[in-house]
Amino acid sequence: MFGQDIGIDLGTSSVLIYVKGRGIIAKEPSVVAIDRESTSLLAVGREAQEMLGRTPCGILAVKPLKEGVISDYTVTERMLKYFIQKATKSSPLAALLKPRVVVCVPSGVTEVEERAVIDAATQAGAGRVHLIEEPLAAAIGVGIDITQPCGSMVVDMGGGTTDIAVISLGGIVHSASIKVAGDTFDDAIVKYIRRKYNILVGERTAEDLKIKLGCVTKRTKLLAMEVRGRSLVSGLPKTLQVTSDEMYEAMSEVAGTIVDSIRNVLEETPPELVSDISSRGIILTGGGANLFGLGQLIKSETGIKTVIADDPDECVVQGTGKSLENISLLKTYNERRIKR
Ligand SMILES: Nc1ncnc2c1ncn2[C@@H]1O[C@H](COP(=O)(O)OP(=O)(O)OP(=O)(O)O)[C@@H](O)[C@H]1O
Ligand SMILES: [Mg+2]
Repeated sequence: MFGQDIGIDLGTSSVLIYVKGRGIIAKEPSVVAIDRESTSLLAVGREAQEMLGRTPCGILAVKPLKEGVISDYTVTERMLKYFIQKATKSSPLAALLKPRVVVCVPSGVTEVEERAVIDAATQAGAGRVHLIEEPLAAAIGVGIDITQPCGSMVVDMGGGTTDIAVISLGGIVHSASIKVAGDTFDDAIVKYIRRKYNILVGERTAEDLKIKLGCVTKRTKLLAMEVRGRSLVSGLPKTLQVTSDEMYEAMSEVAGTIVDSIRNVLEETPPELVSDISSRGIILTGGGANLFGLGQLIKSETGIKTVIADDPDECVVQGTGKSLENISLLKTYNERRIKR
């Protein structure tokens, strides 16, 4: 076996790369910095993220994916090329043979969006490209034997999409993909602070608040944090103190939308599978699974216990990687998916 097998979690917030036999070799924010004049690539990942919102006019820092799908095709292709080269550079023969690649996509993607992912990966140096839906990859990554006639529910909340899926016998029985996820909470926090204090905070500050104070079930211990923003009255910088109770207020509505979607999927799921899900529990994956109180909220609203996967942000890429070990399963699944 000379060619390399690569699994890619191409996410709105982060890109993770899995190489068969080596495991996860990269986990970076999905951000690229480009020199406007020469169009050369200046930085990818963490280094480029630091530049977001801070670039001089000659540099462009972009997030090429939005709401789970490619929004800037050329930049995505260049980002993928960077990661594929990184994955194959230790083996010149593998680079020559072009790697076999599996890329995940949200479960609600259109054919055009799928085509864009396949084309971008091919242009970036991949050989054969297979696609896998994010929640299915997440289920495989968690270690569920998806081929069994037993229902599992996976909720994968990333930055751009929340994918909710009921899986049984190697496929998705019922699913929903909503463009309400981590980024939506950040936006809600920005809006809340602007409305309440007339202060504009940046996206990164909002995300920081979400991670450190955020909650969708009230915290028993009140937390507080100082943040800086720009006063919309004076136009000058201003510091303010924000509490976890305020974050709860800011985030509740978005959390409600996600819980409603989970409930809708459960309502349309055949009763036998609902019974399996009740005994196994709902599995939460994606970076958003770390959101304080999310599991508790889902449990109280659905009556079904909810389990946060270990290393939830790595489940999808682990699953894309493992799916490479069973390409025939992936082919059958893709054929069925096309018919759906
Ligand atoms: N401790 C935490 N608490 C709350 N949210 C978190 C935490 N850690 C990460 N997140 C959020 O998780 C999201 C990123 O998750 P992930 O890396 O799974 O997204 P992605 O796969 O890139 O996006 P998508 O699947 O939607 O394309 C971000 O919105 C981030 O703010
Ligand atoms: Mg994801």
